[in-house]
Amino acid sequence: SVTGGGDDDSEIVAGTAPGFPPFEMNEGGELVGFDIDLLEAVVEETDYTLADDWEEFEFESLIPALENDNIDVIAAAMTIDPEREETIAFSDPYYEANQSVLVREDEDVDWETIEDLEGVTVGAQSGTTGEAVVEDELIEAGLIDDGDYNTYDNYVLGVEDLENGNVDAIVLDVPVAETFANDRAVEVAFTYETGEEYGFGLRQDEEELQSALNEGLATVQEDGRYEELVDEWFGN
Ligand code: ARG
Repeated sequence: SVTGGGDDDSEIVAGTAPGFPPFEMNEGGELVGFDIDLLEAVVEETDYTLADDWEEFEFESLIPALENDNIDVIAAAMTIDPEREETIAFSDPYYEANQSVLVREDEDVDWETIEDLEGVTVGAQSGTTGEAVVEDELIEAGLIDDGDYNTYDNYVLGVEDLENGNVDAIVLDVPVAETFANDRAVEVAFTYETGEEYGFGLRQDEEELQSALNEGLATVQEDGRYEELVDEWFGN
């Protein structure tokens, strides 16, 4: 049974990493976003209750926090990937994404592929699949030097660095890049197909919680609430 949730065995504590719009944002101390609403709707369908207070971490600290029982579920637009599945489990997928390259709007770059990033400075959030693209497809491939790669604790800091001209490109998930592009002086240069799927992260021994969340997710997808949340957070 869930151990991290306090006295009541069926209360679960969620953790996220804000600064990833529109999935999770901290707006004046209040945590909001698609993931927040979706997990709340899903848990409502189960016998579990979700603790009102979510825990906030840097993205790369979420899996350790889960393993240490500080939280019971991760809702952080986290891609289900085989490396992560060595240590944690995931719910069924709830959102699809690829990677993209974000640049300054006024720069008029004509970059279309990863190869076009040769010699530029790039940034990504530590511990993300965006970082993996930088490391595997750019640094490993010899297109950019280690020293031309900046890591950020969150993508808001990365996008600010981009706007200020401290870095030329930020690699991040498409839906988040598009959200930044709507609000700030940045635009998506091109997308890079990775075929990622987001899932809620769980400890591997929480099979009951996993089935409950999967059933809750299926219900929310079937009864139209999932679509409502998509409209609310992604519709313009
Ligand atoms: N989907 C990417 C990954 O799993 C990025 C997630 C970043 N999430 C966040 N809340 N900052 O690596």
